[in-house]
Amino acid sequence: MSDGVTRPEPGQSPAQAHGQRPGRRSSTRLDNYVDRYAARTHGMTASEIRALFSVASRPEVVSLAGGMPNISGLPLDVVGGAIADLVRDHGPTAMQYGSGQGDPLLREQICDVMRLEGIEAHPDDVVVTVGSQQAVDLVTRIFCDPGDVVICEAPSYVGALGVFRAYECDVVHVEMDAHGLVPSVLREAIAAVQASGRRIKFLYTIPNYHNPAGVTLADERRHEVLEICREADVLILEDNPYGLLGFEGEPHRALRADEADGVIYLGSFSKTFAPGFRVGWALAPHAVREKLVLAQESATLCPPSFSQMAISAYLKAHDWQGQVKSFREMYRERRDAMISALEDMMPAATRWNVPDGGFYVWLTLPDGLDAKAMLPRAVTARVAYVPGTAFFADGFGSQSMRLSYCYPTPERIREGVRRLVGVIEEEMELRATFGAGGHPFERGLERGYEAPNTDLN
Ligand SMILES: Cc1ncc(COP(=O)(O)O)c(C=O)c1O
Repeated sequence: MSDGVTRPEPGQSPAQAHGQRPGRRSSTRLDNYVDRYAARTHGMTASEIRALFSVASRPEVVSLAGGMPNISGLPLDVVGGAIADLVRDHGPTAMQYGSGQGDPLLREQICDVMRLEGIEAHPDDVVVTVGSQQAVDLVTRIFCDPGDVVICEAPSYVGALGVFRAYECDVVHVEMDAHGLVPSVLREAIAAVQASGRRIKFLYTIPNYHNPAGVTLADERRHEVLEICREADVLILEDNPYGLLGFEGEPHRALRADEADGVIYLGSFSKTFAPGFRVGWALAPHAVREKLVLAQESATLCPPSFSQMAISAYLKAHDWQGQVKSFREMYRERRDAMISALEDMMPAATRWNVPDGGFYVWLTLPDGLDAKAMLPRAVTARVAYVPGTAFFADGFGSQSMRLSYCYPTPERIREGVRRLVGVIEEEMELRATFGAGGHPFERGLERGYEAPNTDLN
C-alpha cells in the first residue's frame, strides 16, 4: 500500500529515492550530498563574520564588522618594483614549487621579526604557512583527536574556533579581564578538565591586542601563565598577528621568548604588511616542527614560493619597520575616533574597553539587549558589527559585540557609531515598552523572519 511518500531502498540515499542521480547537482538549493559528508563536517557552519561580509561590503553600510587591515598606506610603487625585479631576476624559482618548510631566506627574516618581541629562534624551527590561519589548522591537525580539549580565552578568535570545531575538539573557555587571561581561573579550569579525565591538547591564546576582546595579557601575568601550563604539562599555542601593532611603547615580550619547549608561536605578515600574500608562520619545538612540515606537505605541498619571495624582497628593500610604525599611527587615530564617538554618544549603561593596540573594541550592551537579535535592525540602519556569540563555542556573548576600527576612516567610524547608538536607543525604548520577549522583531524571528542578506545562524 502506498502512502504517497517515497522511501529509500536499502543502500539508497533519500536523494536517490527521489530519482536524483548521485554526483549530479540538482537545480534546487537542497544539498543532495547531505548524507555523505564526513561526521566532522557537521560542526562546519558559516560564521557570522562570513555571512556579514556580503552585507558589510555594500558602500552604504558602515562596517564595524570585518577585521580587514587597511593597506591603503602601503607604498605600492615599492611593492610593485620589488615584484617586477623578482619576476625578472628570479622568476623561474619564484614560480616553481618550493620547500615544504618554506623559503630559507624568508625564515631567517622571520627570525629577525620575532627578535623584536624577545624571541631568539633558529630558522630551522620555523615553518612558513598560508597565513597564520593555516598554522592554527596544522597544529590542531597534528595534535587533536575528536573530543580532545582545547582551552581558549572567553571570547576567542572566530577563525580558530572554526578550526577546533572542524577537528571535533571540545573548547573550554577561560575568563579574561581587562588584563587578559585570569591566571587563577586558568589554573582552576585546567585542574577541572584534568580531574574529569579528559586530555587538554593545548591552551590557545592571543596575548596581544586580542581579537575580539581588544585586551592585552599584562606583562606580570605572562610568567604565571607559563608556570601554570608548565606545571600542568599543557602546551601553549601563542597566536600573535597583532603584536607589533601596539599604540604605546615597545612590543610586549612574547610568551615564546621565555619558554622554548612548551610554546608554539604563530606569526603573520597579514596585519604588518598585506593579507593577500597569505604568508604566516609557526615557530615550534624541533620535533613538532617536523610533524608540521609533513602536515604542510600533505595540505599544500609547499607554501607559495611567489608570495614568500615577494615578502622577502619587500622586507629587504623597504623600511618595513617604518611602514609598521605608520600603520600603528593610522590605527591609533582610528581607535581614538571610535573611543571618542562611543564616549560622546553611547547610552550610559553600555560598556567597552579601550584597546592599546590592534583592531578591536569589545562592547557590552545594556542589560536585556541581544546583539545578535539586534543585528538585522543595525544592518537596516546601515551599520554592521559582529555579535559576541560568534566568539564563543558555547552560545555565550549575546549581550556583546565586536567593533572594528581598522578599516573605515575616522569620519565613517563616527557615523557608524552614531547609527549604532540610534539602533541601541530604539531597542532600549522598545524593551521599555514591550518588555523582554515582547519585541515585535523577535516575534517576527520566531515566525521565520529572515534578515536581508544575513545568515544569523
Ligand atoms: C587572532 C588571529 N589569528 C589568526 C588570524 C589569521 O590571519 P592570517 O591567516 O591572515 O595570517 C587572524 C586574522 O584576523 C586573527 O585575528
